[in-house]
Amino acid sequence: MSSDDASATPPSAGEPNGSSSAAAAAAAASPETKNRWTGRPYSPRYFEILEKRRTLPVWQQKEELLETLKANQILILVGETGSGKTTQIPQFVLEANEFAGKRPMVACTQPRRVAAMSVSRRVAEEMNVTIGEEVGYSIRFEDCSSHKTILKYLTDGMLLREALADPLLERYKVIILDEAHERTLATDVLFGLLKEVLKNRPDLKIIIMSATLEAEKFQGYFSGAPLMRVPGRLYPVEIFYTQKPEKDYVVAAIRTVVQILISEPPGDILVFLTGEEEIEDACRKITKEIKNLGGQVGPVKVLPLYSTLPPLMQQKIFDPVPGRKIVVSTNIAETSLTIDGIVYVIDPGFSKQKIYNPRVRVESLLVSPISKASAHQRSGRAGRTRAGKCFRLYTEKSFHTDLVPQTYPEILRSNLANTILTLKKLGIDDLVHFDFMDPPAPETLMRALEVLNYLGALDDECNLTQLGEIMSEFPLDPQLAKMLVVSPQFNCSNEILTITAMLSVPNCFLRPREAQKAADEAKAQFSHIDGDHLTLLNVYHAYKQNNADPSWCYENFINHRVLKAADNVREQLTRIMARFNLKLCSTRLNNREYCVNIRKALLAGYFMQVAHREGAGHYLTVKDNQMVHLHPSTCLSYMPEWVVYNEYVLTSKDYIRTVTDVRGEWLINIAPHYYDLSNFPSCEAKCVLERLYKSKEGNNRTGRFFTGK
Ligand code: CDP
Ligand code: MG
Repeated sequence: MSSDDASATPPSAGEPNGSSSAAAAAAAASPETKNRWTGRPYSPRYFEILEKRRTLPVWQQKEELLETLKANQILILVGETGSGKTTQIPQFVLEANEFAGKRPMVACTQPRRVAAMSVSRRVAEEMNVTIGEEVGYSIRFEDCSSHKTILKYLTDGMLLREALADPLLERYKVIILDEAHERTLATDVLFGLLKEVLKNRPDLKIIIMSATLEAEKFQGYFSGAPLMRVPGRLYPVEIFYTQKPEKDYVVAAIRTVVQILISEPPGDILVFLTGEEEIEDACRKITKEIKNLGGQVGPVKVLPLYSTLPPLMQQKIFDPVPGRKIVVSTNIAETSLTIDGIVYVIDPGFSKQKIYNPRVRVESLLVSPISKASAHQRSGRAGRTRAGKCFRLYTEKSFHTDLVPQTYPEILRSNLANTILTLKKLGIDDLVHFDFMDPPAPETLMRALEVLNYLGALDDECNLTQLGEIMSEFPLDPQLAKMLVVSPQFNCSNEILTITAMLSVPNCFLRPREAQKAADEAKAQFSHIDGDHLTLLNVYHAYKQNNADPSWCYENFINHRVLKAADNVREQLTRIMARFNLKLCSTRLNNREYCVNIRKALLAGYFMQVAHREGAGHYLTVKDNQMVHLHPSTCLSYMPEWVVYNEYVLTSKDYIRTVTDVRGEWLINIAPHYYDLSNFPSCEAKCVLERLYKSKEGNNRTGRFFTGK
C-alpha cells in the first residue's frame, strides 16, 4: 500500500498544504491543518480521503452517536456493510475529548485477523499517521502497536488475552466490539466479561457494532442499551433462485459466472465459496472458461480471497482493473471486507463452519448450509454502487424451509477447553452462572473441565493448578501448552518449541498443481521415519541451516512466509518460557533417545489424541472408538500400532492428520490417569493395554523398569 508514503512525508515547508484544488478546498473547510496526534501538517492525501469519508452514511449520525454515548455506557450500533462503522466510529470517539481524556485509548475488535490488519492500515492512512504508531493492530503472535498507540484494532481473542493481564481493561476508555453478529467464541465471552467489568468501570464506554443483528436479543442482554441504526446506501438487489436444487454448487457457480460474463451488462462479480482449495480450483476453472470464450467478453481479472492468502495478494481485490473483476471469496467478504464495485453476487448457500461433538470430542470444519441472515448479507454485497443482482444457487423453497434464521453462535459448536482455562484464569469460577448470551450445553462444559483436569490444569475441585496458571499464559490450545510446559522434563524443550511453532502456522508444504511430483519429492527429503511431527522439525532445521533463504524455500516447495511466521512464533514462545524459568534443553542428536524423548513429550500433551491400529487396516481413536484413517499427506510409510495425532479431519472419510508413531507402554507411563482401564470401553486397544499393565507389574516386581518415564 502507498499509505506509508503519504504519512511519512508531510509537505515540505513553504509549499502550501494540498496541491490539488479539491484537497485545498477540503483543507479550507477544515479548521485544522495540523495533525493533533503527531503535530505534523496534514498531507494532501489526508484531505483527499477526508472528503470521501465525509460522504459515508455514519457521518450523518456523528453528533447523535456521541451524545448517546455520553448518556449511556453501552451503545448498540447497526449499519449496513460499507456505511463506515469500522473505520469511522473509532475516530469519532477519539476526536471527542470527553471519552478520550488526556490519554485516550480505544480498542476495536475484529473476529478475523485479516480484517484487523487491513482496516488498521486504512485508518492509519485516514488519520495520516504511521501504522504501528498512533494506530496499530494486534493479532495472535503479531503486535503492531507501540506506547504511542491510541487506537488499536485487535482480534477478539487478543482482547480476551489482554484481560488476563489487565482484568478491568484499564488501559481502554472505549471498547468497540465489531461484527458482533458473527457471535464468535471470543466475542461471546467478551460480552459476559465486559458486563462484569462495567460494574467496576463507570468511566468505560462500550459500543457493540454489527451489520445485522437480532436487535431485541442484544438489547435484552445488555439491559436495554440504546440502539442506533445507520441507514445504508443500498440500491435494489434483484434475487434469483434456481428452479431445481444444484448437484454440484462449484460447477453451478462457474456456469453462472460465464452466463453473467456473456449476457449481463458490466459490473464486478463476487462468488462465495467455502475454502482455499475450492477457491483456487474455481479460479483456475473460471480463467480457463474465459479463455474458451475468446475475446467476446473483454478483459476479466479473476482474484481469490481467503484468510490464509498473503496480505499483498488480498490487497489486490481493492485495485481497480480494466474490464471486469471476479472475486472468489470465503465468508470474509460477507461482512468483514467491503469490495466496492460489486454488482453481481453468486451465493451457493454454503460456508465452512466449525462443529463440535462433545460425545466423541471431535471439533471439525464442515461445509454447511448458511443461515438466512448470511444469505441476506451476501445479497447485500451486490447493491453497493448501483442496482445489482444476486444469484442464489438453491431453490426459493429451500431458502424458506432449509435455512435457519441466524448463524448458530460459535460457543454452541466449539470445544471450550481453551475458553474455560481463560475464564478460570480471569477468576471466574462459577461457570454455570456466567452470563453467557447463549449458554453452552452442560455436556460441552463438562467435557472441557474433564479435559483440563486430565491435563492437570485443574484439580479435582476444578481449581486452577500451578501448571494450569502457566499453561494459560501461552496463547495456545491447552494440549499444546501442556506439551510445551512439560517438555523440559523430557529434555527436548528446544525441539518441542519448534514443533509447537510449526503447528501454530498454516501448512508449510507447497504443492502446485503443475508440479505435484516434484513437490512430493521435495517433501520426501524431510520426511522422518517416526512421523509428521518430526518431519516438521526437519523442515525447520533445514530452513535455518540454509539461512532462511527464500530461494532455498522456493526450490524445495516450502512456503517461505509460513516458515518466517513459525520462526517468529517460536521466538515469542521462547520469551514466555523464559518468563517462567522453563529450561531450554535438547537431548544430544546422536543419542538414541533424541527422537524418543520428543515423541514422549508429544504424548504428554496429546495423550487424549491417540489411535490404535485395528486388524482391518484402519484405526480406532482411544476411548471414543471412532474409526479413522491416516491422512494421505502423512509421511509415514507404514502403519504403526499406536499413533498420536494433532487433528481430526472430517471429510468424505474420517482422517487423522499430522501423526507420529508412539508406544503403548509410554501411554500407561505418561498418562496412567487417562489410560485407567476401569473406565475404558472394551476394544482391541484395551486388551493390548491390559497386557502392558500386567507386564509392567511383572517388571516392577523383578526390579526392571520401562524405558518410558
Ligand atoms: O464497517 P463498515 O462495513 O460499515 O465500513 P468500513 O469498513 O468502515 O468502510 C467504509 C468505506 O471505507 C468502504 O465502503 C470503502 O469505501 C472505504 N474503505 C476503503 O476504501 N479501503 C479500506 N481498506 C477500507 C474501507
Ligand atoms: Mg466493518
